[in-house]
Amino acid sequence: MSTLTNLTQERRLVTAIPGPKSTEALKRRTEATSGGLGMAIPVVIERASDAILLDIDGNQIIDLGSGIGVTGVGNSAQRVVDRVIEQVQAFTHTCFTVAPYMNYIEVCEKLNAMTPGSHKKKSILVNSGAEAVENAVKIARHYTKRPAIVVFEHSYHGRTNLTMALTAKNMPYKEGFGPFAPEVYRVPMPYSFHWVGDQQLFRTMPLRWLHIKLKKKLEHITLLRF
Ligand SMILES: Cc1ncc(COP(=O)(O)O)c(C=O)c1O
Repeated sequence: MSTLTNLTQERRLVTAIPGPKSTEALKRRTEATSGGLGMAIPVVIERASDAILLDIDGNQIIDLGSGIGVTGVGNSAQRVVDRVIEQVQAFTHTCFTVAPYMNYIEVCEKLNAMTPGSHKKKSILVNSGAEAVENAVKIARHYTKRPAIVVFEHSYHGRTNLTMALTAKNMPYKEGFGPFAPEVYRVPMPYSFHWVGDQQLFRTMPLRWLHIKLKKKLEHITLLRF
């Protein structure tokens, strides 16, 4: 089985950016889609293959964004396309908790094998990173019976209500969207490259600051490790 898209792997501009068709389409975008949606490049994509995007004006652009770094195998990789076609021909929707299917089990087995540690592991597949973080908090709270969560300064955890509370950066993620969930505590990241101050202390100081910050509250804390 072969894909329709097979572009030469080169940057090739045939119009100004954005071209006339993208300019028209982006007017419709402005009219039809929420103003909160950002846009990294002002062109509308028609097709893509490997590292090249083809816009609706015929410009070929190098895909340095790559869906924010999530498509390491390149656009429309043949094996991915073949498996997607195979899957939608087999069935398009069922819910694993209603009627299980092999692919879910096989992906979990693969994740269990690939992630660090030789201990027994189990996995759950969810829709997004934010949902994964929310579930990790639920599992940790239920198991430890402790409500509070420790997160690192400057960290990003998502845009749902709980993960907004965990996310450090106010703009554009949190401004005006509160109130947020309580019992969230921030500590510095023990990472030598970004550590300001004495390099000898970057491992021990974050934990010491956590103790100082929380004092008597420590019995409520659940430490999350990702
Ligand atoms: C560390 C981390 N946690 C959570 C998320 C949220 O993932 P999603 O946008 O899929 O909800 C991201 C997304 O970039 C992330 O980088």
